[in-house]
Amino acid sequence: MRRWRKIVSGLAVVGVASGVSMAAALRYESACPPAAAPVTGTATMKALHQRCYGGPELLAIRDAAMPEVADDAVLVRVHAAAVNPLDWHFMRGKPYVMRFDSGFGAPKDVRVGVDFAGTVAAIGKSVTRFTLGERVFGAANGALAEYVAVRESQPIVTIPESVSFAEAAAAPVAGMTALQALRDKAKVTRGQKVLVNGASGGVGTYAVQIARALGAEVTGVCSTRNVELVRSLGADHVVDYTRENFTEGNVRYDVIIDNVGTHTVSDYRRVMTPTGVLVVVGSLDDGAFLGPVKTMVKAKAAGLFGSQRIELFLSTASAEDLGVLRDLMQQGKVRSAIDRTYPLAEAADAIAYLETGRARGKVIVDLTK
Ligand SMILES: NC(=O)c1ccc[n+]([C@@H]2O[C@H](COP(=O)([O-])OP(=O)(O)OC[C@H]3O[C@@H](n4cnc5c(N)ncnc54)[C@H](OP(=O)(O)O)[C@@H]3O)[C@@H](O)[C@H]2O)c1
Repeated sequence: MRRWRKIVSGLAVVGVASGVSMAAALRYESACPPAAAPVTGTATMKALHQRCYGGPELLAIRDAAMPEVADDAVLVRVHAAAVNPLDWHFMRGKPYVMRFDSGFGAPKDVRVGVDFAGTVAAIGKSVTRFTLGERVFGAANGALAEYVAVRESQPIVTIPESVSFAEAAAAPVAGMTALQALRDKAKVTRGQKVLVNGASGGVGTYAVQIARALGAEVTGVCSTRNVELVRSLGADHVVDYTRENFTEGNVRYDVIIDNVGTHTVSDYRRVMTPTGVLVVVGSLDDGAFLGPVKTMVKAKAAGLFGSQRIELFLSTASAEDLGVLRDLMQQGKVRSAIDRTYPLAEAADAIAYLETGRARGKVIVDLTK
C-alpha cells in the first residue's frame, strides 16, 4: 500500500513538473531576430513579416524573396488582402496553446495574412484552371505581400465581374466560415429561425446573408451603431444587445450561430427549439493559455446531455466552398461589408484595428497603394 502511495505521489510530482515546464515553454517569447536579407540578385517584393510574438508594432514591411511557383501553383499579384482575427492570434501567439502549431518562442512562419484578391502573374506547368491576367481570390498563407503563390488545389477561384478586388479579398475566411457553420454544422433549412450572435463582424455579416440565401428567417445581434448595417444585409430582425438580452425573450430559434460567446450554453438552450442547434464559432475570451478554446470545451461539456445539439466548429479551406461563395456573390445574394481600407505601409494598423473587436464587417489592405 505504501509502495503504491509512493508511485502515485511520484507520478503526481512528475505530472505537475511537466505541466509547469510545458506552461513555461508555451509562454516563452524569444527576442526578435534581425531580418534576413534576400540573397543578392534574387527578385524581391514587399511583404508584411512577423519575426517574433507581440503587438502590431513588431510587424514590419520587408523586402522578401518572391515566392517560388510550383508546377501545380499560380503566382498572384495581390491587389487587396483582408485581415481576420486569426492574424492577430498568430501575431501574438495567443492563446498560447496555438504555439504547438505556430512555433515555440517565435513564429515558424514569418509571413502574415490569408485572404487575397489579385491577378494571375505566373502559372505553373501543370495548371489548367487559370490563365495569365485572370482576376482571382482565395486563401493562402502570406497574403499580406505583393505576391502570393497558391496551389491549384487550395481555395482559389475567379472573381465575378461585378465584384471589386477589395470585396473579393474580404470574403474567403469569413465567408467560408459562415457558409460551413450554417450549411454543414447547423444544416439550416428553408423557413428555420436562425440567430447570429455577433452579426456585424467579419463572420457575422456573411452569416446573416448566407442564412437568408438558405431561406431562413434571420435575427442578427449587434450593438446600437451596427443595427442599420445588419438590417441592410437582410436580417429580418435585429436585436441591439445594449438594450435587450435575447436569451430572456420568447422567440425560440432552430439555429444559433455564436461568434462571440457572450452567454452560457444554458442561456442559449432556453431560447432554442427542442431540436435546436448551437454552433460555437468564436468567442471574446482572451484567456492567455486557452482563449476561445475554453469556451468551446465548456460548451461541448454542457452539450453532452439533452435533445439540443451543441456543435463546435473549425472551418476548413475548401476550393469548392469558395466557388459556392463566389456564385452567391455573383447572384447578388451575398456582398462584402467593408469597414476600413489601409495601404500596405499601414497593414499593421489594420490588424491593430481588428484586434479592438469593433470592426464593422471586413478590414482591407490595399496592396496597390
Ligand atoms: N471557428 C472557426 O473556424 C472560425 C473562423 C473564423 C473566425 N472565427 C472566430 O469567430 C469570431 C468572430 O470572427 P470575426 O471575423 O467576425 O471577428 P470580428 O470581425 O473581429 O468581430 C467584430 C464584431 O464583434 C462584435 N461584438 C463584440 N462584442 C459583441 C457582443 N457582446 N455581442 C455581439 N457582438 C459583439 C462587434 O460588434 P459591436 O461593435 O456591435 O459590438 C464587431 O462587429 C472570432 O472569435 C474569430 O476568432 C472562428
